[in-house]
Amino acid sequence: MTSFRDAVLGGGYRAVVKPLAFQFDPEMVHDRISYFGMTLGRFGLTRAVTRAMFGYEHPLLATTVAGMQFRNPIGLSAGFDKEGRLIDVIPAVGFGFMEIGSVTGSPSPGNAKPRLWRLPRSRALVVHFGLNSSGSAAVASRLATHPCRIPLFVSLAKANLPAFDGQTTGISDYVTAATNLRDVGAAKVINISCPNTTGGEPFADPAAFDALLTAIDQVGVTQPTFIKLPIHLPWSQLDEVLDVAERHQVTGFICTNLIKDRTQAKILDRQVPAKGGISGKVIWERSNEVLAHVYQRTGARLPLIGVGGVFSADDAYQKIRLGASLVQLITGMIYRGPSLISEIKRGLVARLQRDGFSSVAAAVGADYRPSPSTH
Ligand SMILES: Cc1cc2nc3c(=O)[nH]c(=O)nc-3n(C[C@H](O)[C@H](O)[C@H](O)COP(=O)(O)O)c2cc1C
Repeated sequence: MTSFRDAVLGGGYRAVVKPLAFQFDPEMVHDRISYFGMTLGRFGLTRAVTRAMFGYEHPLLATTVAGMQFRNPIGLSAGFDKEGRLIDVIPAVGFGFMEIGSVTGSPSPGNAKPRLWRLPRSRALVVHFGLNSSGSAAVASRLATHPCRIPLFVSLAKANLPAFDGQTTGISDYVTAATNLRDVGAAKVINISCPNTTGGEPFADPAAFDALLTAIDQVGVTQPTFIKLPIHLPWSQLDEVLDVAERHQVTGFICTNLIKDRTQAKILDRQVPAKGGISGKVIWERSNEVLAHVYQRTGARLPLIGVGGVFSADDAYQKIRLGASLVQLITGMIYRGPSLISEIKRGLVARLQRDGFSSVAAAVGADYRPSPSTH
């Protein structure tokens, strides 16, 4: 269900832009593209041209989740715009929402470069940024008076520095982030699953997670709050994390972050950097297993955001049918180009109509219902 416009733009991206861009260092290319995106976002005319090239909306895609209204369920995942510099252009590209960050409480330099690689055969990226962030005070002061045209999710993390590796100091940096960014954006995400920090993922431990949420509850964030879940937890530990979250002010979950364990990942490339978490098609299956597990375990009561390996409308639709109220992506856009967003949205409309759903919400979790006549 690709339109002529999307076919031309997507074909042009894959034939010209991508082969050229893939000759250069991935982080350098990302920085250049971000700078170009900031420029496009700055002026009404360039935003309008971007919208004309990439926009597409349909009433069937409009959806309400946790009291927030979305013109479509496709969002930009955390990590592409860590500093919130692209909030003017991302809505024009057609995303229904975006997540910025992760933003750390204190400034955090991240790991040494190089820290981003491509795995072209696997259609994946290896990410070893290690939470580079100018810190919550700088991001808050830049965004406090800068509205975003789509729901803005702000991902919070603790600085990746030895000083914050302890439980108490780690919690205090999350609290700094939540406090400084309390009034920024429409929703918060607590990232407990960055695979690239010196201290590991201490808050995936249920007791530490409980202590973290107890401290964050005190900040009095009034917006919906989501937890970004790791991909690799044993089911029993994941269930404990879910149980802890339900005792606190948690709205829903994002499933999932990157995978670190190379033995669990279906990697087709011969050379794989030893460090870093892997995104894209490599995590497609496992992120869906986690999504399905969390949906069933939480009894479909809490909204879920599905992320990991979305490269097509079929992929996004599958995440929705497995229980995602919203879907995010990064790697698919890098491999297939920004016209993928419109291609996915058109394809979603066609699939919802084909299967007789009157809304995105009606299709959420459809795979667990006995027959199509129930919607
Ligand atoms: C370059 C890059 C940086 C990322 N940084 C973050 C981050 O700071 N915080 C976070 O929660 N997830 C981060 N992620 C994970 C993504 O948000 C997402 O969960 C993951 O990439 C799977 O989606 P994808 O297969 O569509 O890329 C990052 C991913 C990439 C590719």
